Amino acid sequence: MGTSDGWRLEPGGQVRGTLALPGDKSISHRAFLIAALAEGTSRLEGVLDSEDCRATAHALAQMGVDIREVSPGSWVVEGRGPDGLTAPEALLDLGNSGTAMRLLCGLLAARPFPTTLIGDASLSQRPMERVAVPLREMGAHIETDSGHPPIRIDGASLRGITYGTPVASAQVKSALLLAGLQAQGRTCLTEAVPSRDHTERMLPLFGADCEVNGTQICVEGGQALHGAEITVPRDLSAAAFFIVGALIAPGSELKLPGIGVNPRRDGILQILREMGADLTLDAADSVGQEPVADLTVRSSSLTGIDVGPDLVANAIDEFPVLCVAAACAEGVTTLSGVSELRIKESDRVAAMAEGLKTLGVPMEIGDDAVRITGGPLGGGTIQSHQDHRIAMSFAIAALAALEPVTVEGAQWAATSFPEFPGLARQAGIRLHDA
Ligand code: S3P
Repeated sequence: MGTSDGWRLEPGGQVRGTLALPGDKSISHRAFLIAALAEGTSRLEGVLDSEDCRATAHALAQMGVDIREVSPGSWVVEGRGPDGLTAPEALLDLGNSGTAMRLLCGLLAARPFPTTLIGDASLSQRPMERVAVPLREMGAHIETDSGHPPIRIDGASLRGITYGTPVASAQVKSALLLAGLQAQGRTCLTEAVPSRDHTERMLPLFGADCEVNGTQICVEGGQALHGAEITVPRDLSAAAFFIVGALIAPGSELKLPGIGVNPRRDGILQILREMGADLTLDAADSVGQEPVADLTVRSSSLTGIDVGPDLVANAIDEFPVLCVAAACAEGVTTLSGVSELRIKESDRVAAMAEGLKTLGVPMEIGDDAVRITGGPLGGGTIQSHQDHRIAMSFAIAALAALEPVTVEGAQWAATSFPEFPGLARQAGIRLHDA
């Protein structure tokens, strides 16, 4: 892995300057997968270099897709349409990546060859029936191991379905859209809670018709996609660590240009503003179909607030670092609608409660909510639980701590953000290899 196994963080410090953050993880995965389904050459710019995205690229290469990195962040994919995919000789190992595994289930369900998808210890604990159930309804032959990976897929002819997604999951939605494009007839999904819409925004760039009517999304099967030029915006979920860092470290001022601010992802910005963050967005623009803006963040006194389930869903990946912001805020913060967080790369509710307790901040866990009472942060040793976002969140917490913080299992940051330690040092965070 690219980063050290442990980090030692000196307490305090500031977050200053301008950081060029890497490409969005969700959009990078989708660009690889959709380009592989298309016919012709696709050129992808600003792709995130991380273990998760490389797992997707590697799986596609195992199925005969000509996919190559021509320079850092620039990739060329020579798509030959869905029929250009060939049976892999080995298992498809998706490492730590839930997005890679679930989206590939949709992409592969209609391919006329068997595949087996495996992952690491963390991914092997994560629920996969949420994607297998609707794919079976479409006619797929897909088996999980008591609901978990390994997943065995045997090619089948799919038919379009109308489906209401019971969980707010962009991974499930995207898997069904990728399967729907290869099915007979029309596939329509209705989302009870809207999830990130990067797939719907990207498909038309490859020439696919994807109709969005309120909460319903439909695709017609059998459409031919063509190669496209895609630029991936910088990742708001990566930005979130530095945004919270700049807010909680006195004397900070940070600029983050060209960050993706998709309205299904910007819950973190809304929540932090409500907590009193000095956070401005300038130069609003779009990259492809994705809105972007330049962010400026200055240290702020934060106040605890109540955050409801809709906003938590729009900040689903930012929950760990939001807990750090809450721990540094004056008063009590409650976050509700947190059950999905228990089945991410780790049980993020438990991992954050454990880590904050080590630093001396109480986090109470209710049925589907947590309650954090802000207070002074001490130091201590934190476990990442094989979860990139837990590792990076506690590196940020050290900015407000009174004693050193050690993060064990820091190497997991490389699954989504290998550049984190380097960028953190560049900004003034006193992060050392332990
Ligand atoms: C993602 C969707 C979300 C998110 C994950 C990336 C995606 O997962 O937490 O990090 O790229 O579609 P769910 O679909 O499980 O909510």
